[in-house]
Amino acid sequence: MAVPIRVAVSGAAGQISYSLLFRIASGEIFGADRPVHLHMLEIPQVMDKLEGVAMELTDCAFPTLAEIKMFDNADEAFDGINQAFLVGSRPRGPGMERAELIKVNGPIFVGQGKALNRAADDVRCMVVGNPANTNCLIAMNNSDVPNDRFSAMMRLDENRAKSQLAAKAGVPVADVSNATIWGNHSNNQYPDFENAKIDGKPAAEVINDEAWLRDTFIPTVQERGAAVIKARGASSAASAASAALDHVNSLITPTPAGDWFSASVCSNGEYDVDPGLMFGFPLTSTGNGDWKVVEGLPMSDWARGKFEASLNELRTEREVVKDLL
Ligand SMILES: NC(=O)c1ccc[n+]([C@@H]2O[C@H](COP(=O)([O-])OP(=O)(O)OC[C@H]3O[C@@H](n4cnc5c(N)ncnc54)[C@H](O)[C@@H]3O)[C@@H](O)[C@H]2O)c1
Repeated sequence: MAVPIRVAVSGAAGQISYSLLFRIASGEIFGADRPVHLHMLEIPQVMDKLEGVAMELTDCAFPTLAEIKMFDNADEAFDGINQAFLVGSRPRGPGMERAELIKVNGPIFVGQGKALNRAADDVRCMVVGNPANTNCLIAMNNSDVPNDRFSAMMRLDENRAKSQLAAKAGVPVADVSNATIWGNHSNNQYPDFENAKIDGKPAAEVINDEAWLRDTFIPTVQERGAAVIKARGASSAASAASAALDHVNSLITPTPAGDWFSASVCSNGEYDVDPGLMFGFPLTSTGNGDWKVVEGLPMSDWARGKFEASLNELRTEREVVKDLL
């Protein structure tokens, strides 16, 4: 058997985790021969529900699931972990503004960022809980773990974009590559069709319908989360869990030559994004958990306007939480 991995999942009794935990435990992501030690983190009020999740995980009899631990505090939950999935956060209440949501979630990620100091030396942390970019920014700024070990999820948006392009072009989704979601995981994100490819050719040429790309594709991807809530009566869960696994998989698998994937990472000034901001970029990885921003992609003035809108939104979010950084 390979070296065991300790994986923490926060929000472990929530709906995304109800899919995510089982797929992690099954060996799907870290390998069929790698024992998984699960550290499930929740708030004290839902520990009974979490117990039920643990019972179901046990009942799956996954050969890779070596241990299940339950915690109601991050300091203990993150002790010795190699990978963190920060899924838990306070949901937006009725009539709650985005700025208010950011404020109520901020302190959670201050504490979790500090708690990550107790993790193993090789720890990597990905954030799903919304507002994902800014929660990740807070955790990163409150932790001694190096900045390049933090990332926030843009992958659900990327997967949505690829599926929309594939459906429009009438091709299998595997034919779509080089999809980038720039900026914030919010409805101000910019899904880039100018650099996307279908079967190795520019997507815009294959689809040949600029009006659809600008006026249907982009809002469909930006508003997809709301459309799922309207249809299902609950927010995206299985697709979000799947995207979280894709996100980590892209960091631990060498990126296929010529392709890239999207995640929000700490800017080093690429594309004139403020250094230190968590921003959705096109990335490649050598497969060691590392990443590098793909530089020099062209962008029309129209696209740059969309990019700037997302950048400005992230600057505003940073301003709201500046006392926590
Ligand atoms: N980045 C993305 O693409 C994306 C996609 C979908 C959902 N999300 C976000 O993911 C988050 C989780 O979604 P969900 O549907 O599973 O929500 P959910 O409400 O079903 O579950 C969230 C869980 O987090 C727990 N929690 C709250 N505060 C916590 C804390 N301090 N420590 C540990 N656990 C805590 C809650 O008790 C709850 O069980 C939400 O913020 C949602 O908006 C992000």
